[in-house]
Amino acid sequence: MKTFRLDNKVAIVTGGAGLFGKPISIALAEAGAIVIIASRDESKCKEYAEAIKSQNLKAEGMFLDLADEQSILEFTTRINDEYGKIDILVNNAVSREGFKDLEDISKNEWETAQTINSTGMMLLTQAVIKLMRKQRSGNIINIGSIQGTVGPNFPVYGNTGMTSPINYTYDKWAMVGFTKWIANYYGKFNIRANCISPGGYGPGVNEIIGNDEFVENYKRLTPLGRFAGDDDIKGPVIFLASDASAFVTGHNLLVDGGWTSW
Ligand SMILES: NC(=O)c1ccc[n+]([C@@H]2O[C@H](COP(=O)([O-])OP(=O)(O)OC[C@H]3O[C@@H](n4cnc5c(N)ncnc54)[C@H](OP(=O)(O)O)[C@@H]3O)[C@@H](O)[C@H]2O)c1
Repeated sequence: MKTFRLDNKVAIVTGGAGLFGKPISIALAEAGAIVIIASRDESKCKEYAEAIKSQNLKAEGMFLDLADEQSILEFTTRINDEYGKIDILVNNAVSREGFKDLEDISKNEWETAQTINSTGMMLLTQAVIKLMRKQRSGNIINIGSIQGTVGPNFPVYGNTGMTSPINYTYDKWAMVGFTKWIANYYGKFNIRANCISPGGYGPGVNEIIGNDEFVENYKRLTPLGRFAGDDDIKGPVIFLASDASAFVTGHNLLVDGGWTSW
């Protein structure tokens, strides 16, 4: 079991105080890592870092705006100055600003989302990988989605008015290719890159019974019959972040209860 440990590894989780960010961050901390929880709402990140630290684990909350290149550079420099290395980067943050269907979206709305989800993610990965290359070790985990592995299933939304926006499919499919590019280029520098593509997750959503067309449809179309639970992302993250997966790179690990296996 020692290969699953992450003792004193420095791990960044973007959006680490968000919905999936919280279980990802605490899982890394439970495995022994020093977790840097980063997003625009610095107080939210610091608050969650304090909650982790209160369990005798290691974490720090920091400001990061993926829409701002300067912020990205200052952030990576600060971590390197403070800790002297970056071992793990989890690209988990997502902006849903300007998410729309194809005919409804404006150029500005498209570009707003891309600035964060595509350009910002690329710039942060670029800054981190420069350090990892010098270290000759590193591990990138990109949080994708089932929407980046199969096309959107529009009938699942029924008459709820919900949709799966074009931006999301575009970003999440790109993330898989981005992951494979990094894996193939940086393998020789002992840097691994993998994707985790989760299925739907939301607080309390598994407890909703009846009267919600989307929830019912989604559960029916998932072989395991439910949305992701609070802990479902933890094991896959630890596996990919640790030496337990030392020979795994360029992989897209589906954590979706079987949604994509039909
Ligand atoms: N929830 C699901 O059902 C689901 C399913 C499949 C995949 N996923 C994936 O899981 C990941 C997390 O999603 P989530 O549902 O947990 O979302 P969430 O709770 O909305 O979290 C998104 C995080 O991104 C951060 N963020 C947004 N814009 C940012 C920026 N400009 N700079 C830095 N951070 C920024 C937000 O923090 P601030 O507002 O403080 O910046 C927030 O913490 C995403 O990659 C998503 O695609 C989610």
